Amino acid sequence: MAQKMDIKPADGKLGILTPGMGAVSSTFMAGIMAIRNGLSLPIGSLTQMGHIRLGKRTDDRQPLVKNFVPLADLSDLVFGGWDIFEDNIYESACNAGVLPRTLLDQLKPELSAIRPMKAVFDQYYVKKLEGTYIKTGMTKMEMAEALMQDMEDFKQANGCDRLVMIWCGSTEIFLQRSAVHETIEAFEKGLREDDPAIAPSMIYAYAAIKSGVPYANGAPNLSADFPALEELSKQTVSPTCGKDFKTGQTLMKTILAPGFKARLLGMSGWFSTNILGNRDGEVLDDPESFKTKEESKLSVLDTILQPDLYPDLYGNLYHKVRINYYPPRGDNKEGWDNIDIFGWCGMPMQIKVDFLCRDSILAAPLVLDMALFLDLAKRGGMGGIQEWLSFFFKSPVTPDGLVAEHDLFIQQTKLKNTLRWMMGEDQITHLGREYYEE
Ligand SMILES: NC(=O)c1ccc[n+]([C@@H]2O[C@H](COP(=O)([O-])OP(=O)(O)OC[C@H]3O[C@@H](n4cnc5c(N)ncnc54)[C@H](O)[C@@H]3O)[C@@H](O)[C@H]2O)c1
Repeated sequence: MAQKMDIKPADGKLGILTPGMGAVSSTFMAGIMAIRNGLSLPIGSLTQMGHIRLGKRTDDRQPLVKNFVPLADLSDLVFGGWDIFEDNIYESACNAGVLPRTLLDQLKPELSAIRPMKAVFDQYYVKKLEGTYIKTGMTKMEMAEALMQDMEDFKQANGCDRLVMIWCGSTEIFLQRSAVHETIEAFEKGLREDDPAIAPSMIYAYAAIKSGVPYANGAPNLSADFPALEELSKQTVSPTCGKDFKTGQTLMKTILAPGFKARLLGMSGWFSTNILGNRDGEVLDDPESFKTKEESKLSVLDTILQPDLYPDLYGNLYHKVRINYYPPRGDNKEGWDNIDIFGWCGMPMQIKVDFLCRDSILAAPLVLDMALFLDLAKRGGMGGIQEWLSFFFKSPVTPDGLVAEHDLFIQQTKLKNTLRWMMGEDQITHLGREYYEE
């Protein structure tokens, strides 16, 4: 058996701060309050409802994940964040229209008490939004310092022992890494000189990581995904993960594609289109923000199907993704997939998927799980990129030079084996019993 990691206990309160307090963030916070008040169950949350098998199949040890690793308790969570609009979380949740008003009204006093702090925002990076509640008259470095102060003030005011930050803000325009992202020195110089290659989400990420606070990115924009912040996150032992919550259509894609691949079925095309009408949909109506999302959504099939290794099956795959802003649907997205596959003797077949999904309902439990796991990693002294949390993301961040794993089931195995490793339990290899046992 491996050695158990030295993990500090989850004593005291954990503050979860979200830059962006829109649909996902408000659904997450309202959901936790509903659970704490006995009005709901944490459905979709691996930390709360998932079990983990330990030892041999015959051992019958399958504790709940939350009873196996020392995670913060839901009763110890405190919520806060920043937004460019002044709405409190009750108002934001009502605007988002994800959860029923009858539920939100029962939680109104608690939800109304969560008010955003003034955001770091620049419309250049999210063309469709006009922010009214923002920090002004500062350099980017001064904004980062102001965010660090906000975090400290929040921690004091709420008696928090620890913090984590999860980006739930809008998708920013497509930016590529440049020289300013390469080293900590170059990045800090860029912050002082207001380099346009530094977007607001990067300023939040820097503020968190510099303060030793774990950081996750729920959107596809770069944010912390570059060498300067990777290095800083190792130095300050700030675990990070991202990018882009794996929900809706991409979740379906990473469930289905590994199945076709496992059975060596060929694929000639996968066409995905969506309609959605929430603020996220409006932001993604801008081609520059959509490009960031498109890159994220397109990347999954290539790494699952490995066309280089399987040219006869996947060498000519045509993959297309569309998102259409359609206000009547609000957060209730509809995603259609047409999948053209082929089998024995090259005979073609088609699969159609019509997923009437609720995006933020799928995203909210991921916010909870990644916050609790990042806090666990922090208490275990694990800085830098946490690849084992790829399970939650469309575009998992990896250290440079490594290919991301997109297959949901391999991601799940990696996550659970990492938990076993942390706790000094044997890895589960699924090797046959007769070979495995001494
Ligand atoms: N809902 C999902 O299932 C899902 C899945 C994957 C990714 N995402 C991403 O998560 C993010 C949040 O999604 P959502 O549905 O809650 O969107 P939303 O539009 O409802 O909320 C985003 C909030 O971020 C705020 N914001 C924008 N820039 C900000 C800044 N610089 N600082 C602080 N606040 C800022 C906006 O005012 C808005 O209230 C989006 O980027 C979306 O693409 C969502």
